[in-house]
Amino acid sequence: MIPYQGSKRLLAPAILAVLRERQGAAPVRCLYEPFAGSAALTLAAAQAGLARSHVVADSYAPLIALWQRIVDAPQQLADDYRAVWQAGDYDAVRQAFHREPTPERLLYLLTRCVKAAVRFNRQGAFNQAADKRRRGTHPDRVAAHAHAAAALLRDRTQFRVGDALATTADARHGDVAYLDPPWHGTTVGRDVRYHAGYTHAELVALVAALHARGVRVLLSYDGKRGGQDFAQTLPDSLERLDLPAMRSAQATLLGRVEWTTESLYATRPGSA
Ligand SMILES: C[S@@+](CC[C@H](N)C(=O)[O-])C[C@H]1O[C@@H](n2cnc3c(N)ncnc32)[C@H](O)[C@@H]1O
Repeated sequence: MIPYQGSKRLLAPAILAVLRERQGAAPVRCLYEPFAGSAALTLAAAQAGLARSHVVADSYAPLIALWQRIVDAPQQLADDYRAVWQAGDYDAVRQAFHREPTPERLLYLLTRCVKAAVRFNRQGAFNQAADKRRRGTHPDRVAAHAHAAAALLRDRTQFRVGDALATTADARHGDVAYLDPPWHGTTVGRDVRYHAGYTHAELVALVAALHARGVRVLLSYDGKRGGQDFAQTLPDSLERLDLPAMRSAQATLLGRVEWTTESLYATRPGSA
């Protein structure tokens, strides 16, 4: 529904297979996705009916406002998006978005910007340029996707804005949290991509808090790429599973072909 660099749309089936295998027959009480972005895993899990309810959260407020609008008023979102799309002036929309970050403006920026790769400057302003070859998703398609996502998530999904530790504070035994924090390389150094970073220490504290309350965790983190290993030391309560290798979206953006092994960490049986 929402184009988003780093989306787990392609990996979602493999991640859900792990969840299913660990969960057995019982449905998950509530599936939390506190670093939601395009909420690819939530959408796939809802499609498969894997959880009774969902919490979709992100620290970037305009993104959660967009999700809320998709679910509460998909037709209104589609109509508002159509008006912005028809005017077709990316720079004007970006300026208007900085004054007032409406859902339809954010969606338009995401569908038109270079390779759907979101960039924010250090002041947190969306500063990615338009891809001149992209006109943005056709409004009819947006309408169809918005109605489909709304039908999947309505009445069983809560949307929250905030830091992952806060938005998962009420998760408890029987719940599962899928964590996809900003990749280490996007948190430290020059390439600070998302509007907020996430340190290794914050991640370790989040996992510990969830495990202490009996919440099982699935975590997408690190990955070896181009011969470098960005793995960090993670708690023993997590075990590492390698998912099938995929083309590195990051390298593709830079015009290179590299393979990335996406690692998934899961709560070790008996640890939560
Ligand atoms: C790797 S992206 C998630 C992509 C997502 N799995 C998908 O399929 O689109 C990481 C997300 O974490 C959000 N984020 C960054 N710091 C955060 C924090 N402290 N708490 C919650 N969300 C945060 C960013 O806004 C970004 O949307």
